[in-house]
Amino acid sequence: MSHRIFNFSAGPAMLPTEALEKSAAALLDYQGKGFGIAEVSHRGKEFDAVVDETIQRCKQLLNLGDSHDVVFLQGGATALFTLIPMNFLHTSADYLVGGEWSKKAANNGKEVAPPAKINVVASSESSNFDHSPPPSEWKLDPSADYFHVCTNETVHGHRLPTWPKHPNLIVDASSEFMSRPHPVSECALVYGGAQKNLGPSGLVLAIVRKELYPKQKKTPAKLWSFKDLAESKSMINTPPTFGIYILLEVFRWIESKGGLVAMEKLNATKAKVLYDAIDNSGGFYKGTVSVKEQRSHMNVTYRLPSNELTDEFVKTATKNGMVGLKGYRTVGGIRASIYNAMPVEGCQALASFMKDFASKKS
Ligand SMILES: Cc1ncc(COP(=O)(O)O)c(C=O)c1O
Repeated sequence: MSHRIFNFSAGPAMLPTEALEKSAAALLDYQGKGFGIAEVSHRGKEFDAVVDETIQRCKQLLNLGDSHDVVFLQGGATALFTLIPMNFLHTSADYLVGGEWSKKAANNGKEVAPPAKINVVASSESSNFDHSPPPSEWKLDPSADYFHVCTNETVHGHRLPTWPKHPNLIVDASSEFMSRPHPVSECALVYGGAQKNLGPSGLVLAIVRKELYPKQKKTPAKLWSFKDLAESKSMINTPPTFGIYILLEVFRWIESKGGLVAMEKLNATKAKVLYDAIDNSGGFYKGTVSVKEQRSHMNVTYRLPSNELTDEFVKTATKNGMVGLKGYRTVGGIRASIYNAMPVEGCQALASFMKDFASKKS
């Protein structure tokens, strides 16, 4: 590909060029067969092999054995905010609310919960979600059906440095999926929309502990049952076939780069470049996260001294080949999303632009 700019969009987001090139080739002509991978039946042998390899590579990257199923769904991570309580909420479920997305998960859960209850174990909303409430503040109910957390808050730019330990942990990992090793084997369910680290929008990846099925509730339709989806290899209806193919190419790319340990190292390096640019700006840039250890390695959020300067920063950065930097619509400021596919050079270019901009404007 001749011209790729640095795209800091929060999602849909930059994907690895190599994976896109291979996907583009497979879209036109799959393995020299004269048809593209998006043009064949999802029940045919070509696509069946794609699904098998995608599941196998997903488990391999996560060091997962046979305890969990890998399931592909549609409707975004938002659909899972509803499907999870629909399947697994009997009496009450605990939710940690540390930002926009975990708040939405809890609120969507409340819509389908009654007569069961959604219990918010702690919330940082009163401080504008500038951190995630620490474990010392969580009021967990030991008899809850599950404990739901979002481990990386895409809008507010913080993460849980380590995933909590809980017998029935459910994780929205959307904006950090496969960016570092995850203890998925210890979780009840982990899910994420693909459109950040993994592939295109329209595809959700969920990894479900098989032991959950006997306790699963009857859903209004099989399409919304994790057990039925897993048993049908996610083919109750036509799955998003091309999205799954791109996911496979992304998994192959991650593996070729050294797997999740290598991703973690690379992402830490990239994040440091940007946080150093913020911290060394003499206060011109202010990080929005109050607890430094919680700073996200995926979504770097910060503010400039005024809205006018923020607008100018975004416009000038765009002219310099760096796009997608505007903060979330309800929050403002700057958000640089630096998922797996963002090269170190992208972060270095942004850091150098930040330094230059600050020296001209402060
Ligand atoms: C952490 C997190 N959870 C859930 C969602 C919702 O995803 P979707 O728009 O695919 O439903 C997002 C979207 O950005 C997100 O970042």
